[in-house]
Amino acid sequence: MRYRSQSVAYWYFAVAMVLFGLQLVFGLLSAAKYLGPDPLLDLLPFDVTKAIHTNLLIVWVLTGFMGATYWMVPDESRGELHSTRLAYIQLGLWTAMGVTAVLGYLFGYGTGNKLLEQPLPHKIVIVICMLMFLYNIGMTIRKAGRFTATEGVLLLGLASAAVLYLPALLHYENYVVSIYYRWWTIHLWVEGVWEMIQGGFLAYLLIRLSGADREVMEKWLYVIVGLVFIAGILGTAHHYYWIGVPHYWLPLGGFFSALEPMALVGMAIYAYNAMRRSGLSHPNKLALHWTMGSAVFTMFGAGLLGLAHTFPDVNKWTHGTLITAMHGHAAFYGAYVMIVLAMITYALPGMTRRPVEESSIGYWAFWLQLGGMFGMTLSFATAGIAQVYLERILGMGYLDVQLKIQVHFLMLVATASMFSLGVGLFIFDFFRHAPQFNVDEADPVLDKPRTSGAAL
Ligand code: HEM
Ligand code: HEM
Ligand SMILES: [Fe+2]
Repeated sequence: MRYRSQSVAYWYFAVAMVLFGLQLVFGLLSAAKYLGPDPLLDLLPFDVTKAIHTNLLIVWVLTGFMGATYWMVPDESRGELHSTRLAYIQLGLWTAMGVTAVLGYLFGYGTGNKLLEQPLPHKIVIVICMLMFLYNIGMTIRKAGRFTATEGVLLLGLASAAVLYLPALLHYENYVVSIYYRWWTIHLWVEGVWEMIQGGFLAYLLIRLSGADREVMEKWLYVIVGLVFIAGILGTAHHYYWIGVPHYWLPLGGFFSALEPMALVGMAIYAYNAMRRSGLSHPNKLALHWTMGSAVFTMFGAGLLGLAHTFPDVNKWTHGTLITAMHGHAAFYGAYVMIVLAMITYALPGMTRRPVEESSIGYWAFWLQLGGMFGMTLSFATAGIAQVYLERILGMGYLDVQLKIQVHFLMLVATASMFSLGVGLFIFDFFRHAPQFNVDEADPVLDKPRTSGAAL
């Protein structure tokens, strides 16, 4: 850690870890409900556990993004944060918002708009927190007077994520209109501006971990971000197929969304090349695993499994089935969970007594999660394929089909348990070293004479 104020990040990460654990409890609860008698039916029905599961995901991932930004911006701009006090107030407000939103869902207090269920007062607090956050970061950069392209991409992603949340604040009477605008937030988040956030962290980590040439890394970052936008904006139409809008959205959605994986393949090649050409001299190999893992798993979960159901001819069968859950898990995990875990793994040795060299617990956490998530993806996929065939092709009733596919949910619970063990180990590894904020630590790669940092 080079700047004292970077220690703020630790507390954001700590909150993120706790909420991550809680998210999985509600995921397992949701999965268990597929398996049969549900003693909690009246207390905690499926719609409530699922909304809590997905909302906790969004809140903790965003908490992770904020923490990682508070860590990265002082490093990039070479200066202390503008105000640590503001950052702590923001964290308190944000956490209170997240926790009370979850408590509200338990009592059916929410808007019912999938992933955007937060009641209006909570949405307003979210906007206030985002403004505090962006102000703090903006002032930090202004004071320091150094602004890198890597943090530019990150900040553009964060600011656009805040702007794209605004349509979610409005209420629309017409259901078609409501769904239409919902995708401006959800789709343009995960397949647009959040990918810029991921790209910013990825470039930062690759530069730091591999010593790769900054100019070259930033040039390719622009290319990837460009590709995201060319395909991602009109790609929104892959959610417009069946919602009641004119039919020309079908070819538009099919064509542009099919181009989206290009950017994700580009990102994986980018990461791989940086690693291969620049040597692997950084001692924090675990952070390298998470970084590379994120690039590769995104290509699989978002690129390949997104493409698998993005054409209208396929999507008319798979829309809203467990095929969607298959893709949603793998994509979210690769792109956003893994990049946050990469940033945490990179930053943690500077904020705790933990040695930079990897621990075996850290590796167990990595591989158990990876194997577990791969198994969960396969479980949802096999359940989804059977569901589509029985329900939509043979015409069986929804609940009859659910009985037929229960075996896949046994597999889901088994693989999700393995995944949860991996997450449990990650959280344990996070908390097992007390925080200790050493300021003078030199970077093992960037601060030594460059021998292996070749250009791409
Ligand atoms: C990191 C990137 C991505 C993430 C995190 C992600 C996540 C998700 C999630 C959570 C959903 C469910 C949304 C809902 O129903 O509310 C979804 C739906 C969908 N995604 Fe993605 N996705 C990503 C990238 C992609 C890409 C690149 C494609 C296409 C190539 C794609 C194709 C689709 C399609 C077609 C649906 C609609 C499924 C349906 O009709 O039920 N996604 N995605
Ligand atoms: C213990 C691990 C987990 C279990 C057992 C689990 C289980 C589930 C279940 C049963 C659903 C409801 C599917 C349906 O609507 O039928 C769900 C939804 C969802 N989960 Fe998980 N989950 C777990 C971890 C995760 C993680 C780590 C992520 C993020 C990377 C995640 C992201 C999502 C998303 C985005 C949805 C909504 C999908 C959609 O319907 O569009 N889950 N999960
Ligand atoms: Fe989409």
